Amino acid sequence: MRMRHKHRKSSALCCSAGSRWSLSAVVWSLVGCILIIHFYSLVHHQEEGEAQVRLSHFPLTKELEEIEEENFQIQPRGKRSPRAAKRRGGKRPSLIDEFLDDSSQIRLLFFPDHKTAIGPTKAAANESGYFYPGRLWLDTEGNPIQAHGGGIMYDQRTETYYWYGENKEGLTYQAHKKGAARVDIIGVNCYSSKDLWSWYNEGIVLLGEESNVTHDLHKSNVLERPKVIYNDQTDKYVMWMHIDDENYTKASVGVAISDSATGPFEYLYSKRPHGFDSRDMSIFKDDDGKAYLIYSSEDNSELHISLLTNDYLDVTRMMRRILVGQHREAPAIFKHQGTYYMITSGCTGWAPNEALAHAAESIMGPWETMGNPCIGGNKIFRATTFFSQSTFVVPLRGMPDSFIFMADRWNPAELRDSRYVWLPLTVGGAADEPLEYNFGFPLWSRVSIYWHKRWKLPDGWQRA
Ligand SMILES: *[C@@H]1O[C@H](CO)[C@@H](O)[C@H](O)[C@H]1NC(C)=O
Ligand SMILES: *[C@@H]1O[C@H](CO)[C@@H](O)[C@H](O)[C@H]1NC(C)=O
Ligand SMILES: *[C@@H]1O[C@H](CO)[C@@H](O)[C@H](O)[C@H]1NC(C)=O
Repeated sequence: MRMRHKHRKSSALCCSAGSRWSLSAVVWSLVGCILIIHFYSLVHHQEEGEAQVRLSHFPLTKELEEIEEENFQIQPRGKRSPRAAKRRGGKRPSLIDEFLDDSSQIRLLFFPDHKTAIGPTKAAANESGYFYPGRLWLDTEGNPIQAHGGGIMYDQRTETYYWYGENKEGLTYQAHKKGAARVDIIGVNCYSSKDLWSWYNEGIVLLGEESNVTHDLHKSNVLERPKVIYNDQTDKYVMWMHIDDENYTKASVGVAISDSATGPFEYLYSKRPHGFDSRDMSIFKDDDGKAYLIYSSEDNSELHISLLTNDYLDVTRMMRRILVGQHREAPAIFKHQGTYYMITSGCTGWAPNEALAHAAESIMGPWETMGNPCIGGNKIFRATTFFSQSTFVVPLRGMPDSFIFMADRWNPAELRDSRYVWLPLTVGGAADEPLEYNFGFPLWSRVSIYWHKRWKLPDGWQRA
């Protein structure tokens, strides 16, 4: 970026000077300009190459950090979706309008059909282990995985990964004219895996409630973003989730408990933590066994972070307001070499927006905003978190500098068909975005999420 500015400036200088000279001088200076531009673009490319090398000092992840560009085949103007155009008042619809329009002619770009599904039952041997962000993802029985807004817990005793998420296998509808697209509560699904790629369906581990209308989990309510952690002291699995009514006015967190990672979970209660509204949320278990709840509050204008009690069943009074006035949601926290990091999204309902990375020396803050972690793809991909929204960051056993960024590509026209976007995330290398507040803060390592159409974890990564 810096080089590009420089070359524009110098060529402009050279060319305007040329206009006062004779014709042949003008021609020669034009040739000079072209040479200078060519020279600078060479230097520019070299710099890009160096940046890649600098980022790639972890041998195992080198391949994953290659920057992959994405070229859309966008239809000519006349062919763009009429409905999306209508929504824009006749103006040319943006790619996000097309994304949200279920009749768009470029729909398959965002939601490829069954033919390209991935998963153990579908894959040829040469495709086994490859993630294809956005494709339909099948479990070991060949059914599409239903675990939206999910999170992953690694169980050390069984050396198994468990993926918990919303089962949205129902009809998408609006409860009333101005309501958001919704699916009735079915419950929280759990899948298990040893390799993070082939997932066995463990079934519904927390069931929605069919008949009791006063129950938090009654199907007419909202259950989102379930996350599970294990409590070493009580030997229980504890689930936290966002509990709401159809209009998102209840704005509470719910808690459930189980003796087993695969449930059944018993639903305990819901509350507004510290008396504040709480919508998108997550929980984070630290190395020292302390766990934290993080939630969007004050009408999503800020986040709150709170220490949980030792049994993980409630919040303590220790709470901090962070990223005040920044309007962030969908928080996903992880830790790397003693520093805490978080990925968040903006607040635009089901529509995708730009992710931001944040860092802190203490989990209770202060938290500093670093910038957009997305790399590769293209401009619109990076501005929309690859048309998805963060939900979790998975630490990888044996690969301490690498993580998987887990996101949801929501499909508000058919929520059950929302897709998963999983991409490699690394921490390290030089920060290449200006930091917001440099003074008094350390220079954070850069958090990078790399776009890949197709990628896999290095062979033997569990033993690395
Ligand atoms: C995998 O093998 C199939 C069948 O031979 C082939 O059609 C496909 O292109 C291969 N895929 C890759 C990514 O090499
Ligand atoms: C319905 O749910 C409420 C709230 O959880 C509970 O207090 C009540 O006992 C339940 N009623 C029945 C009939 O189960
Ligand atoms: C949600 O809002 C609509 C429209 O204001 C209202 O008719 C409905 O009763 C509300 N639902 C709940 C559960 O409050």
